Amino acid sequence: MPDLDLIIRNARVATASDTFHCDIGIRAGRIALLGEGLPAGLREIDAAGRTVTPGGVDAHCHLDQPMEGPAKMADDFLSGTRSAACGGTTTVIPFAAQAKGESLAAAVQDYHGRAEGKASVDYAFHLIVSDPTPAVLTQELPALIAQGYTSFKVYMTYDDLKLDDGQMLDVLDVARQHGALAMIHAENADCIEWLTKRLEAAGRTAPRWHAHARPMLVEREATHRAISLSQLVDVPILIVHVSGREAIEQIRWARSHGLSVFAETCPQYLFLTAEDLGIDDSYHGARCICSPPPRDKANQQVIWDGLADGLFTVFSSDHAPFTYEGSDGKKPGGEEVAFRHIPNGIPGLETRLSLLYSEGVLGGRITLQKFVELTSTNPAKAYGLHPRKGTIAVGGDADLVVWDERDFTLRNGQLHHAVDYTPYEGMRLKAWPALTLLRGETVWDGQSFTGKAGRGKFLPCGTPTLLPRRS
Ligand code: URP
Ligand code: ZN
Ligand code: ZN
Repeated sequence: MPDLDLIIRNARVATASDTFHCDIGIRAGRIALLGEGLPAGLREIDAAGRTVTPGGVDAHCHLDQPMEGPAKMADDFLSGTRSAACGGTTTVIPFAAQAKGESLAAAVQDYHGRAEGKASVDYAFHLIVSDPTPAVLTQELPALIAQGYTSFKVYMTYDDLKLDDGQMLDVLDVARQHGALAMIHAENADCIEWLTKRLEAAGRTAPRWHAHARPMLVEREATHRAISLSQLVDVPILIVHVSGREAIEQIRWARSHGLSVFAETCPQYLFLTAEDLGIDDSYHGARCICSPPPRDKANQQVIWDGLADGLFTVFSSDHAPFTYEGSDGKKPGGEEVAFRHIPNGIPGLETRLSLLYSEGVLGGRITLQKFVELTSTNPAKAYGLHPRKGTIAVGGDADLVVWDERDFTLRNGQLHHAVDYTPYEGMRLKAWPALTLLRGETVWDGQSFTGKAGRGKFLPCGTPTLLPRRS
């Protein structure tokens, strides 16, 4: 048997089910041995009893996604995956987005061009279906699912992306027939437009009014409708970026009726509130504009409860990177504009794991096992990448994070994205990766990014394995 390329000695290994102490032996980028007192390897790293988790799988992030001008995402695959690696994430799943009138296959081809040669962590693609023409429904989508694009997002809001209920039923039916997972952005577009117009008529256009245009009710209604549509088609769905109590109540209702409704939430709903969009008419709050918007303090606890009790399956960043100062970011054309024209989304790819580890695991709110499940194992299962990704097991990719538990104050200057702010500036955190390994190669050494553009591999996704297979 050839030598091990690398041994991580004295690891406190955490998976979604167990914590145990052992050495991790790595050969050809994969975990070859887990055991005590492994024979010497070509290279060795002493974890010194520190916690080692599987590399993070960020199953909801936006990188270099084409936008309507002047908006442009600050992170492409170069800066976005660098930032992921430095924060402990070794697999990202951003979106190949179909524009209306465009073929889905063309969107996928274009997106591959954006990733190739730039990605420094592994990546798969979700699709965004915005124009479910007969050709998309009967040919393109089934063909792409068979080729390893086994999940797609559909929107119930945003004029350029939204589907009506009939279209939703059509795409859900394709998901059912071909074993894909539909991810749903659930907000009621007409309610948002109606509220936005009323706010504008009253001169209420500062960033903080964004939250008033998208109250919980619009998310609750759309969540219930999405659940009903999926029930009609009899297909599992995953509701993305669930922000709060009212949507959660709908998901609990669905589960209590035996429906396969999965849910994702994100750091912004744990650590931000609507007040971060502003308590007066200053423009600063544009930095925290995202949809659905963050809610109130009490709601943060509801999200924590949902993470701890299994309501949520996946914890993603929804990294949607726009600069604050640039003319292609939160100030389109360099202007302070009405909230409806401010690009939606906040950065979070690099901070996702540290925030949840610090405040969730070390803060005593969730177990270490739950952390691994939410940030790595379940996203890998949901999108057909498990067990190659998402766990620490013999045969799996050696994607590992060694944790350094120490207090520090988060500053945007420490981060590696191309965004000029973090919404979490000044937060006291308790842990950050001391080391990130991608397939056995160090991509973050605790001080610097050590990965290489182009080393990240495209991963075709298999069938989601969160549920038993239907016969
Ligand atoms: O505001 C957000 N969440 N922007 C990103 C796009 C999306 O809907 O996920
Ligand atoms: Zn969305
Ligand atoms: Zn998103």
